[in-house]
Amino acid sequence: MSKPLSRLLRQEQFALLARNRSGWVEHLENARAFLGEGLQSADPARPVLVLGAGSGLEIPWELAPLRCTGWDADPWSRVWTALRHRRWAPWVFADLTGGLADLEATARRAVQEPWSGRRRDRETAANRLAGLLPSLHPDPAPLRAWITAQRPGTILAANVMGQFGVVAQRLVEARFGAPPWNPDPELIDPLAEAVEVWTRRAITAFLTVLRDSGADLWLLHDRGVVFSGGHLELGPWEPDWTRQLQGPAGLEVSDPLGGLDVPTLLGAEEGALARKVRWLWPVAPGQRHVVEALAFCRPRMRP
Ligand SMILES: C[S@@+](CC[C@H](N)C(=O)[O-])C[C@H]1O[C@@H](n2cnc3c(N)ncnc32)[C@H](O)[C@@H]1O
Repeated sequence: MSKPLSRLLRQEQFALLARNRSGWVEHLENARAFLGEGLQSADPARPVLVLGAGSGLEIPWELAPLRCTGWDADPWSRVWTALRHRRWAPWVFADLTGGLADLEATARRAVQEPWSGRRRDRETAANRLAGLLPSLHPDPAPLRAWITAQRPGTILAANVMGQFGVVAQRLVEARFGAPPWNPDPELIDPLAEAVEVWTRRAITAFLTVLRDSGADLWLLHDRGVVFSGGHLELGPWEPDWTRQLQGPAGLEVSDPLGGLDVPTLLGAEEGALARKVRWLWPVAPGQRHVVEALAFCRPRMRP
């Protein structure tokens, strides 16, 4: 994995852990209960995989079967987990999208003329990158290969899918040396749109691999982010998460999954989900996440 990507993920993890976590208690209880249920219901005779294992803040590793592997591209994640849980689990440090190295190399080529090394001005570079991104098709080949070789019975995705777009944006910003996005929300931003298309492709490819794995899936992810202040609660479950928001009119929201519907991409009828629940996570002042937890368990073969 490239150095800039490792550095970036390590910095993001430090930033996450350095945040004031006083408002996180309910989120952490919900996340641990959900992921813990996934770990406890796993067939201990088969491998279990925890994607986005991070430092193990949300993962009750004490419930994990022996053959449980963590996966996180942050080079410090395994050490953090060992310090927190006294467990030195097998680990994979690869990029789950399979596309970040390409994205980074393409951004480098857009920012800097390969033949002269001269930096292009911000607007030219941004337009160039926006034009090149549609040719990229992130492919989670390392994840597919691991699943084919190990045949896990259960896979947990622990708050990682909603990070794909954020990490892609941070990589692009790092290459430009500053955020290259158009600050005026009224104007079309071709680069922001191209990164969003890349993110949708990465999430779709990732969910396709999980769907085809045949494993039970326990998926926890940011479904939405609300930036407006004021009272906010979630009403009863609705397939469209925005319809669950009960707060002041004109809420400012963003969707880390780019409008994709997870059950649809898994080929799962909503009624076939063993768990489906959402809750609010006050990550920071003025930033509340709508967290979604979905469990998709395959029918068991009769003995
Ligand atoms: C919000 S944190 C999840 C925290 C974790 N579940 C825990 O309990 O500490 C997201 C994690 O996903 C990892 N991550 C983000 N994008 C990734 C990618 N493309 N491939 C592999 N890991 C990634 C980050 O390094 C980070 O540890």
